[in-house]
Amino acid sequence: MQKIVVMGQGYVGLPLAMAAVEAGHGVVGFEPDENRLVQLRAGTSYVEDVPDKVLAAAHATGRYRPSRTQDALVDFDVAVITVPTPLKDRQPDLSYVDAAVRTLGDHLQAGATVILESTTHPGTTRDVVVPILEKATGWVAGVDFFVGFSPERIDPGNRVWTFENTPKIVAGLTTPCRDRAEEFYRTVTKNVVLADTLEEAELAKVFENTYRQVNIALVNELQRLAHKLGVDVWRTLGLADSKPFGFTRFSPGPGVGGHCLPVDPVFLSHHTRTQHGETFRIVELAQDINDSQPAYVVRRLQDTLNERFHIGVYGARILALGLAYKAGTGDHRESPAAQVVSLLEGKGALVDVLDPHVVPATVGDSPKVFGAHTTPPMPYADYDAVVLLTAHDEFDLQHIAAEARYVLDTRGAMPVAPTIERL
Ligand SMILES: NC(=O)c1ccc[n+]([C@@H]2O[C@H](COP(=O)([O-])OP(=O)(O)OC[C@H]3O[C@@H](n4cnc5c(N)ncnc54)[C@H](O)[C@@H]3O)[C@@H](O)[C@H]2O)c1
Repeated sequence: MQKIVVMGQGYVGLPLAMAAVEAGHGVVGFEPDENRLVQLRAGTSYVEDVPDKVLAAAHATGRYRPSRTQDALVDFDVAVITVPTPLKDRQPDLSYVDAAVRTLGDHLQAGATVILESTTHPGTTRDVVVPILEKATGWVAGVDFFVGFSPERIDPGNRVWTFENTPKIVAGLTTPCRDRAEEFYRTVTKNVVLADTLEEAELAKVFENTYRQVNIALVNELQRLAHKLGVDVWRTLGLADSKPFGFTRFSPGPGVGGHCLPVDPVFLSHHTRTQHGETFRIVELAQDINDSQPAYVVRRLQDTLNERFHIGVYGARILALGLAYKAGTGDHRESPAAQVVSLLEGKGALVDVLDPHVVPATVGDSPKVFGAHTTPPMPYADYDAVVLLTAHDEFDLQHIAAEARYVLDTRGAMPVAPTIERL
């Protein structure tokens, strides 16, 4: 049994902490957010991929300690950093990583290993993490203590590819660093993929999400063209997808959201621009296309209300199905659905939002968001329009199709009917 510290008990850190407890380690879940700590201690999980019973089982072992006090960090063997790496003023913000590494530096013991899991640009582990730890201790990384990078690929809500079976890339500053990190990950995951350098692992992670961002932008632009041509883009994609090689299907939608897709490519393009004076043109273009998609959805809705029903958006009663950025999760950070809702409201629409996954507390006291609900406050037929923004399984699409006057389906999930318009 080793003493593991997981810095940050969020969407990435909590599942990792649970897996480490299950593997038999003693785990400190270091979490500065008092609200989250209270919930963790009460056995209430705010991360869908960690059911309450898993948290309860972790507590029952006596080997899981959620904490924000520094003394909990003493004598750790392995510390994994899973803190946010958001954008601030549209630029990468590494301040959380910086703070977490500084905290660990104060408690580093000889022979311990520090691993960065947060998504970031190539060079962060070597140029940010290592110098802070070396300065704090006066020791040499790779000799007196060990440093690794292992990007997280967790896909919230995905029941097939989970933390346990998704291949885990592991890199180290030196070979002994990578060996230490690999040794830890082999206790918690089934499939470890070794990288030769820290930078190739860091680049692989940001590239994976950049690849999705660019391909989603491609189908979003295709969809706008198809609409002009009077072609159903979903049928076109279905046909293209019959090609058994050389084609991977992506779907259009209201835009991209969550903590990763709108953010990670910026780490790559910003780094390329500031460090190397180059523009990663396709990434920046993809970002622009996807960012403009919520406004496109609103325009489509506006056009239909005008043309079919001869009413404006101002004063129209609209039901938005879904606030989360994708199906199966309640995470509505950077969600395009939330942007569609706010654009509609800006134009004077009266919007109700229904999302069975969204925890009401995370949307404040907004009366219009019906979090944790599967049915709206008034019958579907009483809305001038329904817009499907997140295709949660809980929505009864057949029922909605039968009842609603008009649905704009941004996910290609609704059955075909005269009242349904697909993006
Ligand atoms: N959410 C995902 O699906 C996902 C997937 C892959 C990678 N990632 C990456 O993983 C990282 C974490 O993402 P997340 O979604 O878990 O974020 P999150 O916001 O859910 O969790 C991060 C936690 O870190 C805590 N924290 C902040 N400062 C801290 C500090 N100094 N020390 C310790 N804890 C601190 C926060 O309070 C928060 O609870 C990010 O870099 C993200 O890009 C996320």
